[in-house]
Amino acid sequence: KEAKLWGGRFEESVTDAVEKFTESISFDKALYKHDIMGSRAHAAMLARQGLITDSDRDSILKGLDEIERQIERGEFAWRTDREDVHMNIEAALTDLVGEPAKKLHTARSRNDQVCTDFRLWCRDAIDAIVSRIKHLQVSLVKLALKNEGLIVPGYTHLQRAQPVLLQHLLLAYVEQLERDASRLLDCRVRMNFCPLGACALAGTGLPIDRFMTSEALGFTAPMRNSIDAVSDRDFVLELLSANSITAIHLSRLGEEWVLWASEEFGFLTPSDSVSTGSSIMPQKKNPDPMELVRGKSARVVGDLVSLLVLCKGLPHAYNRDLQEDKEPVFDSVKTIMGMLEVSAEFADNITFNQERIQNALPAGLLLSVFQEKLQDLSLAELRSISTAFDEDVYEFLGVENSIKKFSSYGSTGSECVSSQLDYWVAKLDLS
Ligand code: ARG
Repeated sequence: KEAKLWGGRFEESVTDAVEKFTESISFDKALYKHDIMGSRAHAAMLARQGLITDSDRDSILKGLDEIERQIERGEFAWRTDREDVHMNIEAALTDLVGEPAKKLHTARSRNDQVCTDFRLWCRDAIDAIVSRIKHLQVSLVKLALKNEGLIVPGYTHLQRAQPVLLQHLLLAYVEQLERDASRLLDCRVRMNFCPLGACALAGTGLPIDRFMTSEALGFTAPMRNSIDAVSDRDFVLELLSANSITAIHLSRLGEEWVLWASEEFGFLTPSDSVSTGSSIMPQKKNPDPMELVRGKSARVVGDLVSLLVLCKGLPHAYNRDLQEDKEPVFDSVKTIMGMLEVSAEFADNITFNQERIQNALPAGLLLSVFQEKLQDLSLAELRSISTAFDEDVYEFLGVENSIKKFSSYGSTGSECVSSQLDYWVAKLDLS
């Protein structure tokens, strides 16, 4: 067995069970790209500060290129006995280029390395999620454009309340998604500070330049406090909170569309490409993707809760518990990406059933029941009730007319809604 990188004073090797229990390579290899990025920046800085020679730096950089190539071609041998992604890459680098590789760990520890990698990874994840959010917004706005003028019952307490334009409802989701994206971008700003150089927890006496590495990695600045830098995982807590809120929005959308696709509502029909059938009840066409969007929101919330509980009892600074921060984050990001993608595909593949919706309109609507009947009365009949009635009374009667009158800012009237639509068409570059 190879001696551990940290094994200098150790006389016995760890048991197989301990090795298996404590490894993280099985999942943190996902950080390889960002780990290599961090090492490149660190090596360049060490050389510029005269802490390693230029030729050491060049060997390190060449070796890192080769390792990245091997990983990407699937030729890299990940080893559990090398514990995690940091030690796998560093040990492989030593195998490859020898002595210079051993100097790469000057003025750094895995404690600052891991959270540097993780911040870089999360930053990319946020960009990817935000772009999926935009994609879903585009699908919803297109769906709205396709359904101009369609009036649907609006609900409170899941009881028919007031008629609204379908476009108005669809744009409500678009607004919610916009805030979801902006929450992610806010958290990205706070996340974008560099822990590298905080070392184990206390920083270092070596003349490193943390501003140089921070800038090379695209961070705003190095983190001010080395203890804070290696201890806190609030950046992932924020990311997972933002994901949870997005997931809840998508879950509500899922619930609504599942209801609307039911035989009882019958307001929408998903195309075959986004539905599944039943093996035993051939009449059925199930909106499974949206049920699973609703279902998978549970995982995203669960991931946040895992991470909150993980952090709650930890004294400063680094504790090994923190290794458990990766999987919930990977899971949350992967899940929310899938939820966003499938919701967009579902939106692209549904049609609204005008007739069923129409039938649902007057029946339960107090307003319209009343008005539909009034609409049938002649002006003379109306005037026999009150002389206040005039020709223009018919402009106020009926569902369509009643909607028109909701004309103040943000209301469901067709003019308000079309200016909302114009806003999104421009904002999402759809014109
Ligand atoms: N695999 C560890 C993690 O993910 C890296 C840091 C380990 N540091 C240590 N002192 N054991 O948190």
